[in-house]
Amino acid sequence: MRHETLQTVRGMRDLMPEDVWKLRFVESNARRLAELYGYEEVITPIIEHYELLAAKIGEETRKRMYVFVDLGGRKVALRPEFTASIARLFITKLAAAPKPIRLFSFGSLYRYDEPQLGRYREFWQANYELIGSSKPEADAEILCLTNDFLKNLGLRNYIIKINHIGILRGILSHEGIPEDKQNAIMQALDKRNWSEAISLAKSFGVNNECLETLEKLIGIRGYEKASFIKEVSDAVKAYPEAISALENFRETLELLERTSLKIQFYFEAGFARGLEYYTGIIFETYVPELDIAICGGGRYDRLIESFGGGMVPAIGVAFGVDRIILAMEKQGISLPKPQRERVLVIPTNSKLLPEAIKASNVLRENGISSEVEVMGRSLSRALSDGSRRGVTYAIIIGPREISEGKVILRDMREKIQEKVKIEDLPVKIRSKSSFKGG
Ligand code: HAM
Repeated sequence: MRHETLQTVRGMRDLMPEDVWKLRFVESNARRLAELYGYEEVITPIIEHYELLAAKIGEETRKRMYVFVDLGGRKVALRPEFTASIARLFITKLAAAPKPIRLFSFGSLYRYDEPQLGRYREFWQANYELIGSSKPEADAEILCLTNDFLKNLGLRNYIIKINHIGILRGILSHEGIPEDKQNAIMQALDKRNWSEAISLAKSFGVNNECLETLEKLIGIRGYEKASFIKEVSDAVKAYPEAISALENFRETLELLERTSLKIQFYFEAGFARGLEYYTGIIFETYVPELDIAICGGGRYDRLIESFGGGMVPAIGVAFGVDRIILAMEKQGISLPKPQRERVLVIPTNSKLLPEAIKASNVLRENGISSEVEVMGRSLSRALSDGSRRGVTYAIIIGPREISEGKVILRDMREKIQEKVKIEDLPVKIRSKSSFKGG
């Protein structure tokens, strides 16, 4: 086998037990939050039709998709996100169900991004979609959930960068700029390439007043809601579509304000996201220790319609689990360690192996995890290997004890041992207060 063949493919990672533990910890928090907010979990396929995934993903991510033709000749792709799959699932399975519909998903996604810290080609998201409501209270729910997700994990000093894409799109639509051209401008804004965004707008033939408005908007940013609303409202006076988007944005923000939740927003009127389906509020979250977003989301009222599913408004958010873990580590938040209590059953000779396997089974049937010595080691070697690997109890199966229906139970930490009847082992081990079980 060639050396390279034994390496993981660039951008792909092996997750070692400690990595998996961290991932599962965030996953269980994510699932618990889904339950608390009434989001039901669905599992959609990793492979979908290319056309579905590519339709509204935006140029940048579209060209980074893993695309292939399957043996049946279908052009398929590995999912780069959940939202398109959820929209498909909604149309085909839930269109007639009473609204709203709240769906949670957790899984791996695939994008041919340039690998670096926090950017992988296989990564994990916890994704929440609220389908069926266009109201500010639905927007407020997703923002509260976002805040709770991060707060519950102990993250601090995060900010939610937020805008309403209806403001920018409203201006461009008013000028008669078609959607594909608007998308190109959004891609440039997403990359924070302001000058490219302005020259694109110019090349699409927008008038000077519009260019000035766009330039003004790009400069409007800050932590203060009131001044943001005022400045944007002054800037977009000539554009009724933008005014009504701003009004919708203001309603959501005021609703949140009146709940007295302390959510730290950073307003940025020139902020756009690469995904093309957004129609309303859009947001991304950052911690000071990382310059990449740990979550992203927004309102997409026309995606389901564009897939042929009727006019069904929706909003959602996805958390980048790998980046959340990185952020937690950077902030010194300790992720709980796996429960290392374990029992090793050691026969003193190979004739006693059946007894060792039986004793081990008794423990497992009682919910206590146990391992049998399978390396054929002598008792002393097995004990020293056990203590090296953090074994908590050793059960030694010797001929004399077995003939009395007993074994030796050795507390590896206290270094004390006693004879115990096999059937009493579970109770005995449990009664030791430090043992937390399986
Ligand atoms: P997104 O902003 O493309 O949004 O991705 C959400 C999060 O996934 C990002 O904020 C980031 O934390 C993580 N992420 C993205 N790419 C990578 C990567 N290459 N490596 C590691 N983490 C990554 C969406 O996917 C939308 N579907 C969110 C949404 C749901 N909008 C509405 N509903």
